[in-house]
Amino acid sequence: MTKNLSITRREFARRRERLREQVDERAIVIIPSAPRTIRNRDIEFPYRPDSDFYYLTGFTEPNSVAVLVPGRPLGEYILFCRERDALTDRWDGEVAGLEGACDVYGADDAFPIGDLDDILPGLLENRERIYCGMGRYPDFDQKLMGWVSRMRTRTQMRSGPAEIVALDHLLHEMRLHKSSAELRLIQRAVDITAAGHLRAMEHCYPGQAEYELEAELSYAFAKAGARAHAYPTIVAGGRNGCILHYLANTESLRNGDLVLVDAGAEFQYYAADVTRTYPVNGRFSEPQRTLYALVLRAQTAAIEAVRPGVAWEVPHQIAARTLIEGLLELGLLKGSVKQVVKNQTFSRFFIQPTGHWLGLDVHDVGDYRLHGEARVLEPGMVLTIEPGVYVRHDDSSVPAQWRGLGIRVEDVVVVTRDGHHVASEGIVKSIDEIEQAVGRLAAGAG
Ligand code: GLY
Ligand code: MN
Ligand code: MN
Repeated sequence: MTKNLSITRREFARRRERLREQVDERAIVIIPSAPRTIRNRDIEFPYRPDSDFYYLTGFTEPNSVAVLVPGRPLGEYILFCRERDALTDRWDGEVAGLEGACDVYGADDAFPIGDLDDILPGLLENRERIYCGMGRYPDFDQKLMGWVSRMRTRTQMRSGPAEIVALDHLLHEMRLHKSSAELRLIQRAVDITAAGHLRAMEHCYPGQAEYELEAELSYAFAKAGARAHAYPTIVAGGRNGCILHYLANTESLRNGDLVLVDAGAEFQYYAADVTRTYPVNGRFSEPQRTLYALVLRAQTAAIEAVRPGVAWEVPHQIAARTLIEGLLELGLLKGSVKQVVKNQTFSRFFIQPTGHWLGLDVHDVGDYRLHGEARVLEPGMVLTIEPGVYVRHDDSSVPAQWRGLGIRVEDVVVVTRDGHHVASEGIVKSIDEIEQAVGRLAAGAG
């Protein structure tokens, strides 16, 4: 079933074609894949291709560079990659090789990556503009500068590129608008994530280590076909929930505390990003219930506002306003909404933006403002809505019952032609559903 979910070779070709149409005849586009990263000494992190590179090529091997050369008689799309040889096959397994680059991945021409230094300067000849993603891989940027200067020396400055242009805007506008195949992959990543969150909820119990709960998610993700997490999972019990990037996941979950779980699977390089917060023992205390209900209300109101034509920040403003009004009612904030906004006193309880684009990267690419104005939502965009309230455990300005509560609810929302679709709507979040689910299958439950 998952086989049919892949992006087709035709779609990758169409993406290159669309990019090609946006650059002029005298340009060249150069996109390297990500370098491998050392974890420690000679051990590498599992390889993950660069998202821009993957988006245009579908090629997932390291040591590769894609080049688009408009009008090149021998073919416009060139892939530099590893060659096949018996020894590499034995150490690393089969690679696509030059033949695979053309036959399977649709390159017009392929060269060994080892020949990049010799061939690239020649490709720059008579090109006026180089499009590339500057600043991401400094070693590659340096190489590029070297090729440009070698080419200039070679031609005595007669035909070198005059400009290096950031590719990001063109490419990232394309990536921001998801195709139906991409939406299906994101939905699949979210469905796998749903299985993980549900499993974690059902297996949660007081005394469990945060990393044990994390293991329930990882198990469900892998069982459903997603070995990678889109980002490191946060399992934050009690006051740890107030640390926005809590990653230790080493403490024990305490009876009476909440646990905040922020986790998303990656499926065929597409991300999910979902947060649920629930009581470790399956029953909200009154203050937890009250604050949770407020965050959920803010999130629901924000999601309701998602539709084409609405400025992307409007849902987030609605979430913030709902939270501020609720915190004023509860007495955690003082004064009027206007005063709170003016003096930013809410920043004691929430500071992070309440969402971001989602796609091949969890914090996906795409401008949030265009021509100085907040951009408007369009069908095919995907974003998260993730308001939260975080009351520090040592905040003596609020009654003790609120201290140490960290609550976030995060969903993946797709902008559709007539509104929105919550891709993660199946992951329980109402108070009743949560109380039924938490601990249902935990050791000793029943
Ligand atoms: N998990 C990353 C985020 O929510 O933005
Ligand atoms: Mn997020
Ligand atoms: Mn998240």
